[in-house]
Amino acid sequence: MPVDTIVSVRGLGVEYNFIEVLSDLTFEVQRGDYVGLVGPNGSGKSTLIKAILGLLRPSRGSAEVFGKNISVLKEWDKIGYLPQRIQSFNPHFPSTVEEIVSLGLVSKKSFPRRMGTKDRAAVLRALEMLNIGDLAHRLIGELSGGQQQRAFIARALVNDPELLILDEPTAALDPETRESFFSVLHRLNREGSVTVILVTHDIGSVGEYATKLLYIDKKIIFYGSFDEFCLSDPMSRFFGSSAQHIICHKHH
Ligand SMILES: Nc1ncnc2c1ncn2[C@@H]1O[C@H](COP(=O)(O)OP(=O)(O)OP(=O)(O)O)[C@@H](O)[C@H]1O
Ligand SMILES: [Mg+2]
Repeated sequence: MPVDTIVSVRGLGVEYNFIEVLSDLTFEVQRGDYVGLVGPNGSGKSTLIKAILGLLRPSRGSAEVFGKNISVLKEWDKIGYLPQRIQSFNPHFPSTVEEIVSLGLVSKKSFPRRMGTKDRAAVLRALEMLNIGDLAHRLIGELSGGQQQRAFIARALVNDPELLILDEPTAALDPETRESFFSVLHRLNREGSVTVILVTHDIGSVGEYATKLLYIDKKIIFYGSFDEFCLSDPMSRFFGSSAQHIICHKHH
């Protein structure tokens, strides 16, 4: 039986050097949700994601993914993750785009980790979703920032994850690529029931595609559907009425 609560966060608190940056967060993400995670710089979005993924240890509370505490989770191959900042590669970094994307498959495989025909096809499919099939054999370091970003998005998608967590994936993308990326994501969510958590400052797009909004600033300011958000007066105090207007205007 597939679990329908994909992420469950309870009383979560995180500190860096004894300074609290997340305080008492409690929320759930259900299968098929597309959650836009927003909040100002330094509000704790990336920290929250790292805590959900078990990349840092909470000082209070817990996070479960697929119904299991993150410390005992084994289904890593069901999660696609794109961190906020990928180091930029020096031009001589010795990996091709195809090799970088195939790393997204490694967690599914046991040794030997050589790519088979099926793996190659999966990698090519992911590259084509991002319209960079023609870059498969180029060195990653030779590509532009936006092309590299597309390769890393492809890596997060290549395993057909059930949960996709993307931390500001569109920052380096040109407008056309951004639009097509959002429509790929939309399709995966609607047709493939992939659960999506998307961190973004692109509030216009988040209102257009996400089904839920999680707004944090050290604690949860708002979590709910867009309709609730748009009907909620107090939200304009936190968000500014113009930002609220942009989100709600675009939402359909
Ligand atoms: N490794 C770290 N050590 C100490 N403090 C940190 C560390 N990482 C983040 N912080 C602090 O924690 C707070 C939350 O940072 P976080 O990166 O989660 O914010 P964010 O919402 O993702 O911001 P942005 O929109 O700029 O990406 C900030 O005050 C930041 O300075
Ligand atoms: Mg961040």
